[in-house]
Amino acid sequence: IAESDRAIACMGAAEIANLIQMRNAADLPTVLGLATGKTPILLYRELIRIAREKALDFSRVITFNLDEYYPMSAHSPQSYHHFMRANLFDHIDIHPAHIHIPDGTLSRKNIANYCTEYEEKIQQAGGINLQLLGVGENGHIGFNEPGSEVDTRTRLVTLDPITRQNAAAEFGGETNSPSEAITMGVATILEAQRIILIASGSKKAHAVQQTIDGPVGANVPATYLRSHSNVTIYLDPAAAKHIK
Ligand code: F6R
Repeated sequence: IAESDRAIACMGAAEIANLIQMRNAADLPTVLGLATGKTPILLYRELIRIAREKALDFSRVITFNLDEYYPMSAHSPQSYHHFMRANLFDHIDIHPAHIHIPDGTLSRKNIANYCTEYEEKIQQAGGINLQLLGVGENGHIGFNEPGSEVDTRTRLVTLDPITRQNAAAEFGGETNSPSEAITMGVATILEAQRIILIASGSKKAHAVQQTIDGPVGANVPATYLRSHSNVTIYLDPAAAKHIK
């Protein structure tokens, strides 16, 4: 628990920067699993600052984003493709071929194959070294909504009403809010070597408390993180307020 959302962002960014630096020094690629949403914006800003001031080299960094709305054009301002360009990729020297974000423009019949290939690409890259996560108010990780089992893989999912409500402002009302998304699965996430979850603000306090102390299971998918041996949850005081 750190003193502010800015402090969490700095801790998370420092860890990611150190990992990239260490792996660059050992001539190894760094495979990152990345999240979108409000929470990681400050972290990405800090990572961009470190990249500039310390000449952090992203040329061997390979990224896999957790999710994208479906259907969704990569050019739409509400897309996670756009979010990643605006908040990170346009500001660092990452190779465009190293960026992977689920494709929201596929025809429905091609989605299952595409998802299998997404999993294969993660494996071919050597697996995820570090996965960055936020958490939904309903305890989702990625778009693994309540009801998602521990063995789920990358797939098309139906979004929870709470998730749609939270996205409503960006889509000009809940009726325009997407009802589906493509997301990495819980099993995909749990295969990462290292996971950091960041959460800030009192709206996340209940989900965080359940994640740490509640019964492990599909009702709160973030609880599955407790079966992983290398997870750190970074919280600001508001998100930590229900933790004993
Ligand atoms: C985003 C994602 C989601 C968000 C979560 C929190 O790629 O996978 O699980 O991390 O919905 O979103 P914010 O940070 O907007 O509160």
